[in-house]
Amino acid sequence: MAKKQNNTRASETIGAQPRLHQRAAEIQSYGTVSHALPLELEEPVRLEMTEQLNQLLADTMTLRDLYKKSHWQVAGPTFYQLHLLYDKHHGEQDELVDSIAERIQLLKNVSITIAADVAETTQIERPPRGREEVPVQLSRLLDAHQAIIRAARTLARRASAVGDDGTNDLVVSEVLRTNELQVWFLSEHLVDVPLVEAKRASTTAGSTQ
Ligand SMILES: [Fe+2]
Repeated sequence: MAKKQNNTRASETIGAQPRLHQRAAEIQSYGTVSHALPLELEEPVRLEMTEQLNQLLADTMTLRDLYKKSHWQVAGPTFYQLHLLYDKHHGEQDELVDSIAERIQLLKNVSITIAADVAETTQIERPPRGREEVPVQLSRLLDAHQAIIRAARTLARRASAVGDDGTNDLVVSEVLRTNELQVWFLSEHLVDVPLVEAKRASTTAGSTQ
C-alpha cells in the first residue's frame, strides 16, 4: 500500500516538460447555444442570430482576404494608390471580423474560424489564384460588398424584429456603414474620366464656335 502511494506521488511531480500533442472532446459543439445568460435574449433568438452572424462572418473574412489578394497582386499605373487603399480596407474588414466573431461568442454560439470552414460557408465567388486586371479586381470586390450589404440589411431588420438590438447596432453601425463607405472609394476608380485632357464639349447646331 505504501509503495502505491509513492508511485502516485511521483506521477504528480511538477516538472518543466510541456504536455504535448493533447486532444480531448470539444467543450461546445458548433451551432449550439448552451448557456442560459442574463442577456434577456432567449435561446432560439440567440441561435437564429448567431447562425446568420456566422454567415456574415464567413463572407466578411472572404472579402477581407480578397482585399489582401488585391493588395499584393495589383498592377499598372494606379498600383501605389490601390496598393495602399486595398490594405486600408483590409484592416477595416479585419476589425469587422473580430467584432462579428466576438458577438457570436458573447451570444454563446461558436464563431467560424478556419479557412477551410470559411471556404465551405461563404457565398462570395471564389477568384482564381492568378493575377487579374485592376477593373476585374475592383468588380470582384464590389460584388462581394454588394452581397454583404444585402445580407446585412436583411439581418439588421430581423435582429430588430426579434429584439436583438445589439446585433442590429453592430450590423448597421459597423458592418453596413463600413461596407457602404468602401464601395464609394472603390467605385470611383471605375468612372471613366480623362486623366490629362478634358473631353471637348460637343458643338450645338447654330453655334458660332
Ligand atoms: Fe503589404
